[in-house]
Amino acid sequence: MRSQAWFDNPANTDMTALYLERTMNFGLGFDELQSGRPIIGIAQTGSDIAPCNRHHIVLAERTREGIRDAGGIAFEFPIHPIQETCKRPTASLDRNLQYLSLVEILYGYPIDGVVLTTGCDKTTPAQLMAAATVDIPAIALNSGPMLNGWYKGERTGSGTIVWKARELLAAGEIDDKGFLKLVASSAPSTGHCNTMGTASTMNSLTEALGMTLPGSAAIPAPYRDRQEMAYMTGKRIVEMVRENLKPSDIMTRAAFENAIIVNSAIGGSTNAPIHLNAIARHIGVELHTADWEKHGYKIPLLVNMQPAGEYLGEDYYRAGGVPAVVAELIAKGLIQPALTANGKTLVENCEGRFTEDRKVIFPYAKPMKKNAGFLNFKGNLFDSAIMKTSVITPEFQERYLNDPNDPMAFEGTAVVFDGPEDYHARIDDPKMKIDEHSVLFMRGVGPVGYPGAAEVVNMRAPSYLLKRGITALPCIGDGRQSGTSGSPSILNASPEAATGGALALLKTGDRVRIDLKKRTANMLVPDEEVAARRAKLEAAGGYRYPPSQTPWQEIQRGVVGELSEGMVLKPAVKYQKIHAT
Ligand code: FES
Ligand code: MG
Repeated sequence: MRSQAWFDNPANTDMTALYLERTMNFGLGFDELQSGRPIIGIAQTGSDIAPCNRHHIVLAERTREGIRDAGGIAFEFPIHPIQETCKRPTASLDRNLQYLSLVEILYGYPIDGVVLTTGCDKTTPAQLMAAATVDIPAIALNSGPMLNGWYKGERTGSGTIVWKARELLAAGEIDDKGFLKLVASSAPSTGHCNTMGTASTMNSLTEALGMTLPGSAAIPAPYRDRQEMAYMTGKRIVEMVRENLKPSDIMTRAAFENAIIVNSAIGGSTNAPIHLNAIARHIGVELHTADWEKHGYKIPLLVNMQPAGEYLGEDYYRAGGVPAVVAELIAKGLIQPALTANGKTLVENCEGRFTEDRKVIFPYAKPMKKNAGFLNFKGNLFDSAIMKTSVITPEFQERYLNDPNDPMAFEGTAVVFDGPEDYHARIDDPKMKIDEHSVLFMRGVGPVGYPGAAEVVNMRAPSYLLKRGITALPCIGDGRQSGTSGSPSILNASPEAATGGALALLKTGDRVRIDLKKRTANMLVPDEEVAARRAKLEAAGGYRYPPSQTPWQEIQRGVVGELSEGMVLKPAVKYQKIHAT
């Protein structure tokens, strides 16, 4: 055991002896610690400021029992907390900070294996990235989605309902109190978002990657089954340590390709490519945005869950969750037999586990939508940006993709906003003359521009257009959007304006052309004019963005990569498989 290097010769290192003495403060004796029993970390992400993961405080009790029963010793410890909707300026600023905090703990303390307590959006990738870097046996346990939300007999999904509620508020159909009531109805219990937002997406993909026990991702937080899963996960990690089953054995190229395919089938979040590309970079697997279109675009949407569909987490679990989705894909020969945390392959775990509820998980032969993956765009505005095609509505299709001679392309007039504050200040101003031929641009909101990259690209239309029934305008930007949003934006544009991307050169009033068939997004501005604008911007010192407000903002801005490459800390990538004593 790795931990024996700390514990077996305490007399050699006075400081370790001191640590043993302190460890005994919680009732462990030398005999236990020197017995060669695996020391299992429980990376605790739940706290009062991280409510989506707070249920892990309860679950950890069962996990500890599982660890103990399998012969291990549990060491639970906190890592830097993240809460998606409360953290300013954006929770994704902290993904790399939680990653760093976990790497330091796993490297520097006597831990043989670790249970990652995943849940809220960034907590899942942050911990998988750390497990990838350190490469000691690791298994994920999700806090689980909240129970379904209900309002006046209809399902209300967390996150997704906010986008609807803000339209109703802007159109004057509800007041502030009505807004709060509607939004609060979507969050009736402990757990993470119950929609197929980034939390459910990332946990489903963690299961598809093989980093959880099968059937783990979809169990709602308050269900008895989740407590049982916590116990089983605790037991299993001890065995994984004895088998030396490491993240690098599980998170292979094949596992990432499986996860991309599952992401299309579940209607997964546009944050998934950022996070999976980051995990891949930390474990040394080449994975790029282009792989998402290559492996994922042609896969149909099978899961009828908000925001792409109708149902929520409880329904998804009852319908069979990830194994039932994967069973459909296995039957089509689309899943590779990659190893998972239980020592079997994803194919062995899921084959034949078809759903019995075809309203929630559709058959592959009759999907909700064909070609549900992401498109990867490029052009003179950026080198890479993605679009989630599964959320294109009939209204959007009819308004923008309706030219019989060119049904996959449209042109419009750019309206450019520099960050969300600028957008909020001007969107409803009639002087902006925004109409249904406008294309809204949001720039300055990438990993450097708005430190961490803000979830703001899905911009609602001006209230005067909403009142006319025009609910969605095309949106493009160098930031992200919430996985709970049903907007078919073109987002995660890289390079971002703040690091020299051409979005910085676009002006309100420029014509732009988007072609879904050619996967291009271009400003229809002559090359000489683009070059002149660039020279002028560079002479003025480049694209301006707000100063850093905290030390971490400044540190991260100095070393962070583009969204297309996973927004990783560039100097961190070379530290791979640092499992050492
Ligand atoms: Fe934490 Fe959605 S806000 S999971
Ligand atoms: Mg989010």
